[in-house]
Amino acid sequence: MAKVKVKTGYVCSDCGAVYPKWQGHCTACGVWNTVQEVRIAPPSRREGFAGAVSAVTLLGEVACSEEARFSSGSEEFDRVLGGGFVPGSVILIGGDPGAGKSTILLQTMCHAARSREVLYVSGEESLQQIAGRARRLQLPVDRVKMLAESSVERVLEAAGAERPEVIVIDSIQVMHVAGVEAAPGGVSQVRESAATLTCYAKTSGVVLILVGHVTKDQSLAGPMTLSHMVDTQVMLSSTEDARYRLMRTTKNRFGPVNELGVFAMTERGLREVKNPSAIFLSRTDTAAPGSLISVLWEGTRPLLVEIQSLVVAAQYGSPRRLGIGLDQNRIAMILAVLTKHGGLVLSDQDVFVNFLGVLTFCKPGLFSSFY
Ligand code: TYD
Ligand code: MG
Repeated sequence: MAKVKVKTGYVCSDCGAVYPKWQGHCTACGVWNTVQEVRIAPPSRREGFAGAVSAVTLLGEVACSEEARFSSGSEEFDRVLGGGFVPGSVILIGGDPGAGKSTILLQTMCHAARSREVLYVSGEESLQQIAGRARRLQLPVDRVKMLAESSVERVLEAAGAERPEVIVIDSIQVMHVAGVEAAPGGVSQVRESAATLTCYAKTSGVVLILVGHVTKDQSLAGPMTLSHMVDTQVMLSSTEDARYRLMRTTKNRFGPVNELGVFAMTERGLREVKNPSAIFLSRTDTAAPGSLISVLWEGTRPLLVEIQSLVVAAQYGSPRRLGIGLDQNRIAMILAVLTKHGGLVLSDQDVFVNFLGVLTFCKPGLFSSFY
C-alpha cells in the first residue's frame, strides 16, 4: 500500500487563514499568537461536496422538492430558525458556558423525538448527568437515543445503524477524527470533525445541530471556516441578571436573521416568553414626563421599547451627554438636530437618556444595526 504523505500547514485559529510558514501575527485578521501548526490530512472520503461523483447538470433539470420543514417543538426556536428544521441542514448553536445550549437542545430533542428519530451525542456530559437533568425537568425521555462519544467515526457508525433524522453534537470542540494528529478543540480537529459531519448531513438529509463554545470576545471558538460551513448559526446569550436567554440567528441560509427568541431560565428549564415587551419595560401606572414608549419591528414580532430622558442644568464645565443602552454619538446627533431645527438651547444642559427594552439586554454585536 502506498504510504500516505501527511502535510503540515499553519492556520490562524481565529480566522482560518493558511500560511506556509509559522508567523506570530496573522496578517489576515490582525491578531497575534493565533497561528498554529496543523497536520493536513490527505483528501479521503470527501471527494466532492456531497461525497458523490459530481456531474454538470442544467439548473432547470435539478430535481428539488419543497423544503419540508419540521418543528423543533419550541415556537420561539422555530421562529428563530425561520420556521423549523430543514432536512439536510447544519445548525451551529453558540453561546457562553452556562448559556443554556445543552438545556434547550435536550428540551427540544425530547419533544421532537415523539415524532422524529433523534440521536443526541454528548461528548461533554455523561449520560447519567443528562438523564438526571431530563428527569428533573420532567421531559418525555422514552424515545431520545443517546450516545456518549467524541469520535466522529463512531458517531457516523451509530448514525448509519440508527438512521436518525436529527443529530445533536454537544459539542463540536470535543470531537475528533482519526488521521488528524492534533488535540480535540484545536483548529484542525474542529474543522475536520465539522466537515466530516456536514458531509454526512448533506448526503443523508439528517438535520445536524452542532454546539459551539464562544470566546470572551463573543466569537465562536475554533476556525471561522466553521461559520462558513454551516447553514444556520444561532447565538444564545444570557441577560445580565441571568434570568432570561435571548436567541438570535447571525447567519441563516433558510430564513431571516432578524428574529429574536426569548426564554426564561427557571428551575424547570427554559420557558418560552411569548410577550417579551411585558418583562423588559419599567412598569408604572402613572405617566412620567420625559418617558415615552415606542415600537420596534424585530423580524415578525413588534417589540415595545421605552426611552427615558432627563435634561438638567449643567453643574460643572462642559455639559454631559450620557446614554444607557443607546449610542453616545446618536444622542449627540439628535441634540444637534434639536438645537439647529428645534431651536432648543442645550449647550448648558446635562442630558441623560436611558433605553429600556429587550434589546438593551443583548450584547453589542448581536444587534449591530442598532448599537
Ligand atoms: P447548560 O444548558 O448546561 O449550558 P451550556 O450547555 O450552554 O453550557 O445550562 C446550565 C445553566 O443553566 C446553569 O447556569 C444552570 C442553569 N439551569 C437552570 O437554571 N435551570 C435548569 O433547569 C437547568 C437545566 C439549568
Ligand atoms: Mg453544555
